Amino acid sequence: MKIFHFKKELSEYLKAIKNEDRSVGLVPTMGALHDGHQSLVEKAMSDNDEVVVSIFVNPTQFNNKEDLIKYPRTLDRDVDFLKNISGNKIIIYAPSPEDVYDGNVASKNFNFKGLDSVMEGAFRPGHFDGVGTVVKRLLEIVKPNKAYFGEKDFQQLAIIKKMVEIHNLPSKIIGCDIYRAEDGLAMSSRNERLKPKYREAAPFIYKTLKSAKQKFGTKSANKVSEWVKKQFKSHPLLELEYFTIADDKTLKPVNRKSNKKNYRAFIAVYAGDVRLIDNIALN
Ligand code: PAJ
Repeated sequence: MKIFHFKKELSEYLKAIKNEDRSVGLVPTMGALHDGHQSLVEKAMSDNDEVVVSIFVNPTQFNNKEDLIKYPRTLDRDVDFLKNISGNKIIIYAPSPEDVYDGNVASKNFNFKGLDSVMEGAFRPGHFDGVGTVVKRLLEIVKPNKAYFGEKDFQQLAIIKKMVEIHNLPSKIIGCDIYRAEDGLAMSSRNERLKPKYREAAPFIYKTLKSAKQKFGTKSANKVSEWVKKQFKSHPLLELEYFTIADDKTLKPVNRKSNKKNYRAFIAVYAGDVRLIDNIALN
């Protein structure tokens, strides 16, 4: 297992790999690795000769300071986790903010063509500029053939694809399916912070998304949204922040259904002080 804390050494190591024409996959993460991350790493391993996993809690994408402080940091455990998946095959990049940002820990402003003005972008101001900044940096440092992102963060995936297109970066962005616990809860590093009663309640989110999908077959987006809001209003533990049905390309909320478009339902819910997001393809 190779672990790099500095981009200079990582770049040098990767140069030799690229000189041998070996392909490189990148899986960017913020650590606290779980089976959702594992599914991305396994896909990257099956597609590429070498895989870099970055582990970096990116300060510029946290609009809430408390959330940044509370974010789990478990590097030793993450290293063991990756060893278990891969033997010693994976290259880890676990830098400090100074190394990634060259001392200037700040976001750049991006034009994501409106993809960032809804949902997570609306509720977490500055979040996607932070994500765009760090992912661009990671793609420039690693220069992977392919980089892997989960549909769990579908809006993030759309924004990264847009950023790569606008900046003409040579890496291909690969979207990966949402990995769920057996009871349907989407895996997330935040799940670790759920108190038992909230963890028990949380599968209600995916259950409601599945019912919404079924209802969307015969009902309007508005009717489905009203129904979802009602379900959460009467729920004793889960508080709905937003539920939106949107076009899966533009992420604009749907007004009138068209059978030429694909739609997706997006949700954010508070389970106590832990914010959970999920989404589902509707057609
Ligand atoms: P993080 O939350 O650690 O997630 C890293 C990657 O794993 C993301 O692409 C995310 O969508 C994916 N992922 C997380 N849970 C998943 C699940 N249950 N199923 C499938 N994929 C899942 O997302 C980030 O970090 C950061 O914003 C990052 C892209 C690393 C930039 O800092």
